[in-house]
Amino acid sequence: MNRLLANPFTNPTIVAGYEAWYETSGRRADRLEKALLRRLLAGFSRPRTLLEVGCGTGHFTRWFGEQGLQAMGLDLSSPMLAEAVHLGSLPYVQGDALALPFQAGAFDLVALITTLEFVNDPVQALSEATRVARHGLILGVLNRQSLLAWRRKRSGESLWQMARFFTPAELVRLMQQAAAGTRVKIVWRTTLWPVWPGELPLSWGGFIGMAVSMVEP
Ligand SMILES: C[S@@+](CC[C@H](N)C(=O)[O-])C[C@H]1O[C@@H](n2cnc3c(N)ncnc32)[C@H](O)[C@@H]1O
Repeated sequence: MNRLLANPFTNPTIVAGYEAWYETSGRRADRLEKALLRRLLAGFSRPRTLLEVGCGTGHFTRWFGEQGLQAMGLDLSSPMLAEAVHLGSLPYVQGDALALPFQAGAFDLVALITTLEFVNDPVQALSEATRVARHGLILGVLNRQSLLAWRRKRSGESLWQMARFFTPAELVRLMQQAAAGTRVKIVWRTTLWPVWPGELPLSWGGFIGMAVSMVEP
């Protein structure tokens, strides 16, 4: 299937409303997710560069930049990238998560935030992210066994019908499969949004934040 046609993020309505969500009903989720990601980021020793795969409008790419990283965004969707360029001054490139146009170890960190849910082959996307990352990955994924995922699916919105959610255990398995020969250390936490603003390794929290560190041989 043509990935550009299958990608809901080329739909002008979705593109136009995307960034506004973070300023309205998504404001609280955004704050909690960033708090969790900040904590995971602190587990890496002085990373300098980061590639966000599936950067969309650059919402998190800009935030990673604000955390002191030289951040770059990559996305398949040109309208989402056009928004990202409009909203900031960071470098963006059009490309496919399944075949990243970068050499091995090109970035200290690679992040995929709410992107694995929409790629056709999550293991391949994680394998590519592992290939181009020197120190590790930061993942943000909606949890299949959460109230949040249940609400998303129940909303009837076509975007969420297309999304594939994962549990923390499933995500760990996918990551281990993708890492293949590379030894990795995996740490995950969830936000319990909207019930509790904490960050705990609870398997039913709405948003899973995962840090994957490459272990030196
Ligand atoms: C839910 S949005 C997430 C955007 C951003 N990371 C955020 O959290 O605000 C998912 C993004 O993944 C992108 N995407 C889907 N499949 C992709 C692929 N194979 N390669 C690159 N980007 C992809 C979509 O175009 C979309 O912008």
